[in-house]
Amino acid sequence: MGKNTHKKARPRAAWSGRFAEPVSERVERYTASIPFDKRLAEHDIRGSLAHARMLAACAVISKRDLAAIESGMRTILAEVRSGKFKWSLANEDVHLNLERRLTALAGDAGKRLHTARSRNDQVATDVRLWLRDAIDALGAQLAALQASLVDLAERHAGTVMPGFTHLQVAQPVTFGHHLMAYFEMFARDRERLADCRKRVNRLPLGAAALAGTSYPIDRDMVAQELGFDGICANSLDAVSDRDFAIEFCAAAALVMTHISRLAEELVLWMSPRFSFIRLPDRFCTGSSIMPQKKNPDVPELARGKTGRVAGHLMALLMLMKAQPLAYNKDNQEDKEPLFDSVDTLADTLAIFTDLVAGIEVDAGAMRAAALEGHATATDLADYLVKKGLPFRDAHEAVARAVRAADARGCDLAALSLAELRRFSPLAGADVFKVLTLEGSLASRDHAGGTAPKRVRAAVKRARKNLK
Ligand code: ARG
Repeated sequence: MGKNTHKKARPRAAWSGRFAEPVSERVERYTASIPFDKRLAEHDIRGSLAHARMLAACAVISKRDLAAIESGMRTILAEVRSGKFKWSLANEDVHLNLERRLTALAGDAGKRLHTARSRNDQVATDVRLWLRDAIDALGAQLAALQASLVDLAERHAGTVMPGFTHLQVAQPVTFGHHLMAYFEMFARDRERLADCRKRVNRLPLGAAALAGTSYPIDRDMVAQELGFDGICANSLDAVSDRDFAIEFCAAAALVMTHISRLAEELVLWMSPRFSFIRLPDRFCTGSSIMPQKKNPDVPELARGKTGRVAGHLMALLMLMKAQPLAYNKDNQEDKEPLFDSVDTLADTLAIFTDLVAGIEVDAGAMRAAALEGHATATDLADYLVKKGLPFRDAHEAVARAVRAADARGCDLAALSLAELRRFSPLAGADVFKVLTLEGSLASRDHAGGTAPKRVRAAVKRARKNLK
């Protein structure tokens, strides 16, 4: 173990010319990125083709070389897509694997592809291309989840439930309003991703190893062909910083954080102590010992996976911290956290879109819960204020009424007018209108309020926003 045994002859590394001995198998494994960066293959090919076309247009390589490169890349792309491409650890990473194969197919033309380029600007380009596609796909997935929330919110624009602060009954809200709060969170998440995309979408290629290149290249041409908004303006910065990936991971961690809040509420609402909702069996699993159990595994796992994605953000921040300019091999470690963030997010969003659509609501249980805990106490205080009592005095009077209701084991709204008048003679027969759940909801009739008609308006605006 650990000895540098070379029983099998391994292919020589592309950069091995100045080395007296090959690396050990352990070092080979340690330094290789092929097990995880091969998923960049299609983007690497796209980048290489754009580079080759530019080299030909600038007369750095011949038209014939370009044709040979294009034809070889077509073959390689088909091999990659069909799973027939033979990846080798000895060729270290996706870039060298593809180049080796291209050279086998296209001869010297393949060897000329790397003119005026380095793996440093190449990998930065690949990751940006890959991440741009991922951001676009995730944006669409977020919109789909939002659409699921809006559908459910519309059906429950008038369904009353207790709103909580400190997880104590606070004031009545509608379930639709509650769901639309998540719509807003995910709307900001989409904005963040779209904003991050602007900084992802810059071309590093042309920076070469770090200092640029002596060939007469046209970086704008490559940027245009690859759909970048422009080029990275400084070659050292282009190959070294991964802030675009860090920014993405921060946005991804926030999406997961929002998901985890929803997940936690689903877990609570599903508990028999709440019984606000039921989740379809396809999102739940049972217990191997307790036959009665139906556990909300999917929301719980999403809550757990939030830690994992937040961890990836930390990993990338630590990766970048204190790296001197320009490229350092540390940066090879950017991929696994980034890829896993995207994969985790994609799976979670797809599952939650389906799960939200499947939520079954027990409106009766929600209503019963809203009738406990004196949810309309603030409404009574506001009523007294409108009759002329200063708010602090109204607060005090209602607090005493709540104590009396508690002592009798009933809700504030169940006290008689005579009883209420013991705490404030300002209470009149019309007081019961504000003490009902519906009265409370309807009175919160302003932009951003929970009145059912405001929730319906929010749903309408949301649908427009999603178009
Ligand atoms: N596999 C490498 C990475 O992901 C590619 C760049 C390697 N560059 C180098 N100078 N060793 O970062």
